[in-house]
Amino acid sequence: MDVVRSRRRRLFQALQKLGADFPVALWSGRAPAKNFPANRHYFRANSHFLYFAGLGIENAVIVMDAGSDRTTLFWDEPGPDDALWHGPEPSRDQVAAAVGADDARALGDVYKFIDGGASIYLPDPGARLAQEAVLGRSLSTSPEPEGIDGVLAQAIVEVRLRHDEFAIAEIKKAIAVSIQTHKLGIQSTKNSQLESHVCAKMEEVIYGNQCGTAYNSIVTIAGEVLHNNCYHNPLGRDDLLLADVGAETALGWASDITRTWPVSGKFSPTQKALYDVVLDAHDQGIAAVKPGADYREIHLLVSCVLAGGLVDLGILKGNPESLVDSDAHALFFPHGVGHLMGLDVHDMEDLGDVSGYGPGRVRSDRFGLGFLRLSRILEPNMVVTIEPGFYQVPAILNNSEWRDRYSEMVNWDRLADFSDVRGIRIEDDVLVTETGNEVLTADLPADTDSIEGLMLR
Ligand code: GLY
Ligand code: MN
Repeated sequence: MDVVRSRRRRLFQALQKLGADFPVALWSGRAPAKNFPANRHYFRANSHFLYFAGLGIENAVIVMDAGSDRTTLFWDEPGPDDALWHGPEPSRDQVAAAVGADDARALGDVYKFIDGGASIYLPDPGARLAQEAVLGRSLSTSPEPEGIDGVLAQAIVEVRLRHDEFAIAEIKKAIAVSIQTHKLGIQSTKNSQLESHVCAKMEEVIYGNQCGTAYNSIVTIAGEVLHNNCYHNPLGRDDLLLADVGAETALGWASDITRTWPVSGKFSPTQKALYDVVLDAHDQGIAAVKPGADYREIHLLVSCVLAGGLVDLGILKGNPESLVDSDAHALFFPHGVGHLMGLDVHDMEDLGDVSGYGPGRVRSDRFGLGFLRLSRILEPNMVVTIEPGFYQVPAILNNSEWRDRYSEMVNWDRLADFSDVRGIRIEDDVLVTETGNEVLTADLPADTDSIEGLMLR
């Protein structure tokens, strides 16, 4: 409770700095129904609510009054029918005490307490309509909140960007579970026939540790599909398996790890050659994480290392810096080098680029920079991912416009030698410290010898 109170105080200070003293209302949200109301999907409270209330209770609102430093909980106690189906629930006063609220009221009264107040809208359009009805105004439809909601978004980002000790401890818990998850995934591959078999083994560790998944697990031999959530493919002996799987703790704190390993237990020479290029980019990217470093420059550095490695393998032709200037690396590495991580796997991405882009920065429309989710000067206690990759995406490599544009820079015949690589990604979670960084996921090795060693166990 002290943690959430101190977070709320920091929010008030951030709002004051921005010259704002409006009340703030944050909704926890509701689980969506699966075809009929009594069949509910899993509930995960909205992250801003979780951050400032510390409790993932469904269908609740907290109103924080910056002027009086008071927090009021609005929540309706479930009725007797709910107790029959869902068991006993805490009382409103118990919930209010748990979130450190000064007052507790019926949900239907919330509109009386947020006159002129700001909020962040929930991603579900139905929930947003309900928020608009309570607030008595419409919320912006652009990815970035606007007006007073935009001011609130800036204040929230100011507080959530740098993690407190409690948050870092939670992230470390999630990571410890994810490391076990990946080890079991690697070890269980030899006894698996389908992607779903490995995915089930991995998620068994997550759920067995009373965690949830921080995002839909990616466990696929089609690693070139960046967010592939299908698990039906058979595992072929020549395939690489890419697993991007992360646990989140019961309080919602995320982890995000990717490893890529050979189904056979042994990287082929071509797989190892490309893997080592990605690993070098990964290692150099992590080494560059420190306070004062510009994350956009880390993305460009990683892109240059990748381009240089591809030149050495004869896939790209030219000088690495010039190749990156012309975005040729993005043919094989079309996404950004990583993102903020915290309560959301892409932390605060619901606020659009207010979270990922520092003051005065706007997202580039360049092929090699457009998917960069983070462009900020790094500060102690931020957690970021570093996740370079190499992919052969047919939609990119067969695009005639791009083939023409990059015809002089790619040796297509040489690329064909690497047809046993569809996608490689190596992703770790890195805490920015006062003097440099701490790789929070360091206990999960990434080099090919260690991965092959784990597969033998
Ligand atoms: N773990 C998925 C992503 O970072 O996009
Ligand atoms: Mn990630």
